[in-house]
Amino acid sequence: MERTLVLIKPDGVQRGLVGEIIKRFENTGLKIIGMKMVYADEDKASKHYADDEEWLKSVGEKTLRSAEKKGIKIERTAIEQGRWIREMLMSYLTMSPLVALALEGNEAVSKVRMITGPTNPQEALPGTIRGDFSVDSYMLGDSLERPIQNLIHASESPKEAERELKIWFNDKELHFFKRVDEDLIYRRGSKK
Ligand code: CDP
Ligand code: MG
Repeated sequence: MERTLVLIKPDGVQRGLVGEIIKRFENTGLKIIGMKMVYADEDKASKHYADDEEWLKSVGEKTLRSAEKKGIKIERTAIEQGRWIREMLMSYLTMSPLVALALEGNEAVSKVRMITGPTNPQEALPGTIRGDFSVDSYMLGDSLERPIQNLIHASESPKEAERELKIWFNDKELHFFKRVDEDLIYRRGSKK
């Protein structure tokens, strides 16, 4: 059983998509074990998007790759681009309240990423949250000097999930109960 963190980012809350988004995760059989509305401050935002070189590079590379495909040359290195995005992420995450969810279930991390879709909504397929509810792109974000507004944060690995869940939830805020469909979902078959 895995746990993962989802944030419905401020744009998702402001657009009134909270119910629609939660429904998609809940319908799969994933269990909500923690949920709250939070006005994130700079400290929380900067813990969440930690100043980690590897992460900054991977974030920056996403824009550079996408620009290259379109024949656009960006003069910054991946790390420089990543640092710039991180600065902008601080004001994105703190601009209005967000909703934090802790979800639990079989392979929860990858399942949630699949339902969410890739970072760039223009590359996200219909059926995913980012594909269905956003027209944003790296280029639009860059031209408006803000990060991509893609509605959701979802942990990328079980390790990342463990670190991030601790930022948003303390032990008392995570709940233990049984969903009524769990006996069926996690049912052991009997050999004839
Ligand atoms: O959120 P996700 O895990 O898909 O992407 P990330 O690489 O961890 O980046 C975190 C967030 O930074 C994204 O969700 C975007 O809001 C923003 N970002 C951006 O605006 N431009 C990029 N090139 C990469 C990320
Ligand atoms: Mg990420």
